[in-house]
Amino acid sequence: MTAALVAAEWARVFTLGKARGRIKALFEADGARAARMSRQACGMLYDFSKTSLTEQSLAALLELAEAAGVASARAALFAGEKINTSEGRAVLHPALRAGPRAVIELDGADVMPKVRATLSRMAAFAREVRAGAITDVVNIGIGGSDLGPMMASEALSPYCDGPRLHFVSNIDGAHIHDVLKGLSAATTLVLVASKTFTTIETMTNAATARRWMVARGADPAAQFVAISSALETAAAFGIPAERVFGFEDWVGGRYSVWGPVGLSLMLGVGPENFAAFLEGAREMDTHFAQAALADNLPVLHALVGLWHHQVCGYKTRAILPYDQRLARLPAYLQQLEMESNGKRVSRTGAALSFGSGPVVWGAPGTNGQHAFFQLLHQGTQIVPAEFLIAMRGHEPELAHHHALLVANCLAQSQALMLGRDHAEAHRVFEGDRPSVTLAYDRLTPKMLGRIVALYEHRVFVEGVILGINSFDQFGVELGKELATALQPVLAGAEADLDSSTAQLVALYRAHQP
Ligand code: F6P
Repeated sequence: MTAALVAAEWARVFTLGKARGRIKALFEADGARAARMSRQACGMLYDFSKTSLTEQSLAALLELAEAAGVASARAALFAGEKINTSEGRAVLHPALRAGPRAVIELDGADVMPKVRATLSRMAAFAREVRAGAITDVVNIGIGGSDLGPMMASEALSPYCDGPRLHFVSNIDGAHIHDVLKGLSAATTLVLVASKTFTTIETMTNAATARRWMVARGADPAAQFVAISSALETAAAFGIPAERVFGFEDWVGGRYSVWGPVGLSLMLGVGPENFAAFLEGAREMDTHFAQAALADNLPVLHALVGLWHHQVCGYKTRAILPYDQRLARLPAYLQQLEMESNGKRVSRTGAALSFGSGPVVWGAPGTNGQHAFFQLLHQGTQIVPAEFLIAMRGHEPELAHHHALLVANCLAQSQALMLGRDHAEAHRVFEGDRPSVTLAYDRLTPKMLGRIVALYEHRVFVEGVILGINSFDQFGVELGKELATALQPVLAGAEADLDSSTAQLVALYRAHQP
């Protein structure tokens, strides 16, 4: 890979981007477009035909991917190389879901025996809890220590037959107050999930939950679990070693649902369904590792993303699951994509000469249709849409609902693309608004694993082509530092503040008793 070659490939892609035609015309010119611009793998159909990509621009993007070294970066990821260069760490979340015979070496040692041992401990613990008197599990964590299990447990609610799951993340006392309010301390298990075990939100909520439990005569030593990479810090919190589930620093927070951070999910759906979730992700790992770039779903999804944001200049992307149980997927993907690829410098620290990651947002359909779809259809910004739709639901008795759901999903991608002419200006739909559709059989644990791993690898490929490190997140530090510095100021300490912050501090102080 040379920088000059990559720049030349980018230039070619940009030229093709400027000459792009209307999507509708591409369909009119090629009766086989849908088949040509779709791929099937891992039980999914990925249809990217309703975009302005042509075979020529797709070929150019694939050449860009090759020039940028996607194949060798992919090999380095799975080989445990320290590709998180700014932090000197490997990126081995695929090890958490690797098969029983996998050997994955890091610094000359196989990491898998420890991964398997932790998974077995989690399964044994989950079986014990699911068979016991615990009625409610409260996962206290934030960001990657919250969004994954929260999103997945809602997605897999038809499989949740264990204790009720609750998630507390926000430092706002309203969150923990409202969750604990209905629970019995005697039958509640609290999981404190934090990779670092220093995150202020999580540690504050954990201390509040402990006080709540003690005040009601229950024993936190018996009903608290710690999930962390910082084993000593977790032990210092007073949780016995047999209730501490550790993971290594080569698992990024936003990639951690596959290991101990997924314990709440395992408690809800059981170890077998959790294993199926891992198996689905493993299938996607194998596909990503082995399929040719032109047939590789994560690679194609990444290229579509780059085409829309960097080349066409569309500022955001909408995640639109026509699958109510994926309601939290947009929030999960916001962290995955924006914390990974929301960067302003390259791996080497040089300022990027083009945009990095787009704003990611979304909500389930059909609800979004009655809220923000007006802008998608007739607004002045073009927002590429990513539809997710299951061919079957989990409620056969409500199949007529599902048929309506599918009809709406397909209709929206059609309407976005086709638009409508009308004599009256307010009723004109310009059309030519791109979308991709990810269609799958049913949202089973295995399918959810495949979908999440697809997005993880998409983010990775985009990062490689953009030349950025997708695995650090220094951009979250400044706000944390300033919040720490403001605590004594709210309590009355003097500080040299800008006039806006000073005004807000004064208002806060004036409202205290
Ligand atoms: O503030 C960002 C972040 O570091 C995320 O990357 C992470 O998922 C989250 O905070 C929670 O961190 P921890 O698991 O260490 O509590």
